[in-house]
Amino acid sequence: MSSDHDAEIKELLGRMTPVEKFGQLQQLAWGFNTGPGGPGTEDVETAARAGRVGSVLNLMGAANANALQRIAVEESRLGIPLLYGLDVIHGYWTTFPIPLAQAAAFDPAVTETDGAVSAREARSDGIHWVFSPMMDVTHEPRWGRIAESHGEDPYLTARYAAAKVRGYQGDDMSADDRVAACAKHFVAYGGAEGGRDYNTVDVSEQRLRNLYLPPFLAAVDAGAATVMAAFNTVSGVPAHGNAHTLTDILKTQRGFDGVVVSDWAGVDELVVHGFAADRADAARLALGAGVDVEMASTSLVEHGPDLLARGLISADRLDDAVTRVLRLKFRLGLFDRPYVDLDAVIPEPTPSTRAAARDVAARCMVLLKNAPAILPLDPSVSSVAVVGPFADSADLLGTWVLGETQRRFPAGTVREALAAALPDTLISHADGVQEAVDAALAADVTVVVVGEPTALSGEAATRSDLGLPDGQEDLIAAVAATGRPYAVVLVGGRPLTGDWLDTAPAVLMAWHPGIEAGNAIADVLTGAVNPGGKLPVTFPRAVGQVPIYYNRENTGRPHDPARPENPFVSGYLDLADGPRFPFGHGIAYTTFAVSAPELSRTRIEAAALCDGAAVEVTVPLRNTGDRAGDEVVQLYVHDRAASVVQPVRRLRGFRRVHLAAGAETVVRFALGADDLGFWTGDPNGRFVVEPGEIDVHTGTSSATTDRCTLTIV
Ligand code: NOJ
Repeated sequence: MSSDHDAEIKELLGRMTPVEKFGQLQQLAWGFNTGPGGPGTEDVETAARAGRVGSVLNLMGAANANALQRIAVEESRLGIPLLYGLDVIHGYWTTFPIPLAQAAAFDPAVTETDGAVSAREARSDGIHWVFSPMMDVTHEPRWGRIAESHGEDPYLTARYAAAKVRGYQGDDMSADDRVAACAKHFVAYGGAEGGRDYNTVDVSEQRLRNLYLPPFLAAVDAGAATVMAAFNTVSGVPAHGNAHTLTDILKTQRGFDGVVVSDWAGVDELVVHGFAADRADAARLALGAGVDVEMASTSLVEHGPDLLARGLISADRLDDAVTRVLRLKFRLGLFDRPYVDLDAVIPEPTPSTRAAARDVAARCMVLLKNAPAILPLDPSVSSVAVVGPFADSADLLGTWVLGETQRRFPAGTVREALAAALPDTLISHADGVQEAVDAALAADVTVVVVGEPTALSGEAATRSDLGLPDGQEDLIAAVAATGRPYAVVLVGGRPLTGDWLDTAPAVLMAWHPGIEAGNAIADVLTGAVNPGGKLPVTFPRAVGQVPIYYNRENTGRPHDPARPENPFVSGYLDLADGPRFPFGHGIAYTTFAVSAPELSRTRIEAAALCDGAAVEVTVPLRNTGDRAGDEVVQLYVHDRAASVVQPVRRLRGFRRVHLAAGAETVVRFALGADDLGFWTGDPNGRFVVEPGEIDVHTGTSSATTDRCTLTIV
């Protein structure tokens, strides 16, 4: 596919010994571990000198980067520069909201901003490669890594995946403010049974292609330089040993010419999975399946030369893997400029990156309810009580924040920010229940800031319960019992449950908003920003409903509100049907009217769609309230009868629109083959557009009933 640097790579390959080739496929940890075990720093220097390591993760600091690089470039036989990778997921120094929050903005520009800011800061400090974006679609709020994801929808995730790749890589990865991206985790990691991290995923080919793969394809189309294999099995075959997904689908069918990196010790774990007999077997299977680089474990470099000599590893496949690594190094410009300019290091967030993080964080917030309208806080209010464990807490950065970033650049708190935003208002603060009650009784209005600490979300942070931890429901109940007005700000990395969500008058989902958490929450509470985010994930009523997601297939016996007397339905005896808040839900401090959609044509031939024709959908939108605000117009399709049953709703378009009070506009979407067809279960990958009736729904959440019908002939 690519001809870039082919001659140089060929020349280098010709001079490499087998050990040096396997060395390029080795990635070692430096500094700190982000998985079990791992070698010490001395091993890395020795390996760099001997040409037995090609990339390093978890090395921070430009001077450290240069010192190790000097060993590789000046002391190793071939002088091939090292590649430095790091988990920069939602910020390097400037922490943006967690990815799940960013998805709630329904505005991929926010993630492109995060990507660009992160790339500039990280590259200036010696990082070439970030292990992001994570694009695992998931139906599992119990899974801690939902915080790193973009929620339950493949289309939304795909749009974000592409935007984040653009933000990181720009047009030219070799620029000194860009880095290589890594699409992860390939593939279906979000399907972990029971939400337990790293767990089994047994998935049909059609679901693999329709649900889990689209974001990866979008990332590859956007030029993602690398892909990381997932820890899970995919239908009985671990992702690290899965030739069907890594080679057939990703490399052959999609033409991916970049690097596939293992996850931390994912090669060795093939033995634990019960797939490989021993570490040599694991090395053979992983390389054979399509893994190019081994992170943290060392099976390939240890056993590869012997396996090669015995003909158990293909020399062509080895050269292909090495070629991919060298090509990445060339694309990053490392052969020309292996060292970091120590005078150009960006040492901290700047006022402009903080402003960007604040703006993005406020855009991510979702107003779940507000009746009676407690929010925004009345500007004439004379006293506000800010209570709860997160009212004056800096634990708002979210998962995957580097230790040094946490220490040096903590999040601002809600209490501080409200005090600054409302200088003429008395802001009282309390943590404990009785103190909070006293404060609420003495204040005009109370803001209760509750939720999940960062430690309860992210990798290996699965919960069996989705309720508020540590008795926080009691705190809300006690404040409610005062009879005084109050609003709840909910922080966290996943959808949470609790009946208090039904009774609290106003609830703002703020997620883990990052470095500017306090200011961004205060912006929304005071009305300086009118909230416009939407849920990228369903909020269940109870954990027992999980998995519950909007893009489900119908059963033959769905719940029918028109026939409550019929017991033969798919549901729970002890729970009302449906979610507490549906995917796409979110309100504002103003109101919007969305009119029914209209199609540019109501019939179209499948063949015309496949040739690139599209149907235009127009949706009139009006701000019917008295202040400017944002609405996200959403478009869903439903194929009524298909050879593979189709979800009852499938997001295929969204547009976040800002409208002045009373203003109106017309939002336009185009529906083409990509939107109206689907992948069959064919392992060779067959995408079809079938004749039939398509319901086109538009509105302001996935629960919309406005629709029109398109006939495909
Ligand atoms: C394990 C995680 O699954 C992955 O997302 C991360 O990039 C690596 N560790 C490296 O830290």
